[in-house]
Amino acid sequence: MPRFRTLDDLDPAGRRVLLRADLNVPVRDGRITDRTRIERLTPTIRELADKGARVIICSHFDRPEGRRVPEMSLKPLQDALAEALGRPVAWADDCVGPAAEAAAAALRDGDVLLLENTRFHAGEEANDPALAQGLARLADLFVNDAFSAAHRAHASTEGVAHLLPSHAGRLMQAELEALDAALGHPSRPVVAIVGGAKVSTKLDLLGNLSSRVEVLAIGGAMANTFLAAQGHALGRSLQEAEMQDTARAILGQAKASRCEILLPADLVVAASLAPGVATRTVTIEAGVPDGMMALDVGPETVAAIEGRLRGAGTLVWNGPLGAFETPPFDAATLAIAESVAGLTQSAGLKSIAGGGDTISALRHAGVLDRMTYVSTAGGAFLEWLEGKTLPGVAALARD
Ligand code: 3PG
Repeated sequence: MPRFRTLDDLDPAGRRVLLRADLNVPVRDGRITDRTRIERLTPTIRELADKGARVIICSHFDRPEGRRVPEMSLKPLQDALAEALGRPVAWADDCVGPAAEAAAAALRDGDVLLLENTRFHAGEEANDPALAQGLARLADLFVNDAFSAAHRAHASTEGVAHLLPSHAGRLMQAELEALDAALGHPSRPVVAIVGGAKVSTKLDLLGNLSSRVEVLAIGGAMANTFLAAQGHALGRSLQEAEMQDTARAILGQAKASRCEILLPADLVVAASLAPGVATRTVTIEAGVPDGMMALDVGPETVAAIEGRLRGAGTLVWNGPLGAFETPPFDAATLAIAESVAGLTQSAGLKSIAGGGDTISALRHAGVLDRMTYVSTAGGAFLEWLEGKTLPGVAALARD
């Protein structure tokens, strides 16, 4: 992991600090449906403001593609932030230019300002130096707390970091330390659980993990592709027939790296994906009957994963094991989540999870606060698990 400066290396009193946040929170019908990213960001804002900084927050929201799209304004986040912080938050209708500069100039020590969506400018995603300059003009220092946007080389995540003295915020620091504990310098053996629908979206991830962990348990619909590649009958289960060669190559690569790939030994099958539908559990040898589909892994598979977890030092988890949004196909994910939480609390397992559906699955299981670390990131967490360099993190590296 590169070394980076944190808030410990900073005296921000009386200084203007540009804080890159990720306020790309889920919104439905104009209401924020999950405030995790806001809550995880507040310690950095509070610490800076309490130390006398003038905090200028910028973020993207959604994908407006360089145009002003009113529904993608960050304005509704102004009140949400003020509420979370318990202090007022000022607003600027643009992230650069006269409106932003006037709002920044009006700040006093300890004040907080939120700027409009950086992606209203095409220069954001193009990492245009002119936009980065416009952002840098607002501040004396740059703090990046948006690990979840660090896989994007954008003007506000990467470009501006080269123009101002740059530091990692507390959330960025926590994410990087947790990820380093997971794969950089982990307690071994390391078990990875990877679920989700498609092998094709997680190829690099499976390749990287199989060379770095001792056990890789594969669940979700992507396991079907591996099982089909081994000649098992899968009925109408979701699978990617064209990925079977790739699946066999991953199995071969894992064997060469002495990584045990743990595929399902049994599956919970049903005629359709619907709540409360009649289910059966079948062994892999028996196969999925014609007309039925696999929607969760079965109890024998859960027991096998639990067995590996009991001797593990570290768990890295991305993706649910079954169609967890539709009970009873949440059973395996809930059981494993509960075991992981228990081992984390009582046996010192370091459990690190993140990416896409994983947080929703762990929230559904009620174990979020019993894991060692749950990342706020989706795509960035995946790219990091793939072993890629994240441009927003690289730009913070200390010389
Ligand atoms: C996320 O929600 O994963 C980040 O905010 C990145 O968003 P993006 O995929 O639109 O770049």
